[in-house]
Amino acid sequence: MRVALIDGKAFAGMLREKIAREVADLKETHGLVPGLAVVLVGQDPASEVYVRSKGTQTRAAGMASFEHKLPETTPQTELVALIERLNADPAVHGILVQLPLPGHMDATAVIDAIAPAKDVDGFHISNVGLLGTGRTAMVPCTPVGCLMLLRDRHGSLSGLNAVVVGRSNIVGKPMAQLLLGEDCTVTVAHSRTKDLAGICRRADILIAAVGQPGMVKPDWIKPGATVIDVGINRIERDGKSRLVGDVDAAAAEVAGALTPVPGGVGPMTIACLLANTVTACRRAHGLAA
Ligand code: GUN
Repeated sequence: MRVALIDGKAFAGMLREKIAREVADLKETHGLVPGLAVVLVGQDPASEVYVRSKGTQTRAAGMASFEHKLPETTPQTELVALIERLNADPAVHGILVQLPLPGHMDATAVIDAIAPAKDVDGFHISNVGLLGTGRTAMVPCTPVGCLMLLRDRHGSLSGLNAVVVGRSNIVGKPMAQLLLGEDCTVTVAHSRTKDLAGICRRADILIAAVGQPGMVKPDWIKPGATVIDVGINRIERDGKSRLVGDVDAAAAEVAGALTPVPGGVGPMTIACLLANTVTACRRAHGLAA
């Protein structure tokens, strides 16, 4: 059986086109321009690449992009003061503070300073609680992107065994909540899980979100399963720097469908961020979202 590669890059491209049409319609019909503010503290090179890409894609969709770059040594009080100004700014519908933050900052306190309605990352405790109780929430972008790819492939996910490897607040936990919402039977596995390989082998849907290059081996995968690889790990091989996922490349010989790295889940994240910003704008103006 040949594996089907799930083309997240193409899917994200279509999603961005749909968002751009919706943005044009909001402008024409209501005179509204959705605005996204991205805050970067320090000069982490990977974060700088992500932030630049977010700005470019926000503008390409016809939305307003506000970038705030603060020095590494910025006191937390100053960052919180900026967030409070953005909370009060009617041109800003979404606020994203790029993580990780410098070591002297308390990321939880910073995230909790963001107005929940503008929390397009879905990291604020209010949104976490809303998602956990099955209510309307801002949902974290990477898991919602994975869910879109899964729905596109399977239609209904009801009754399928889903295993999420990784329990982060950004991916693993919200992914598990979303899959529960789709009526999957969900197992969350992690570094202390006993018989990780055996648990993964029961999965109809396997989500790898651990940040360990090639950790999920082909013999951990049920033949024909759908494997979503959230990992984006930069490694050196044969003197060259390249990106690899959390799933061993040989998984393609066993899986029924697989997201490649790069070009799978990665492009979905920013597309979903734009979608969340449009949703935040619509809700802020009392429009159905
Ligand atoms: N750093 C890595 N991924 C993310 C993300 O999804 N949101 C934010 N704010 N920072 C990140």
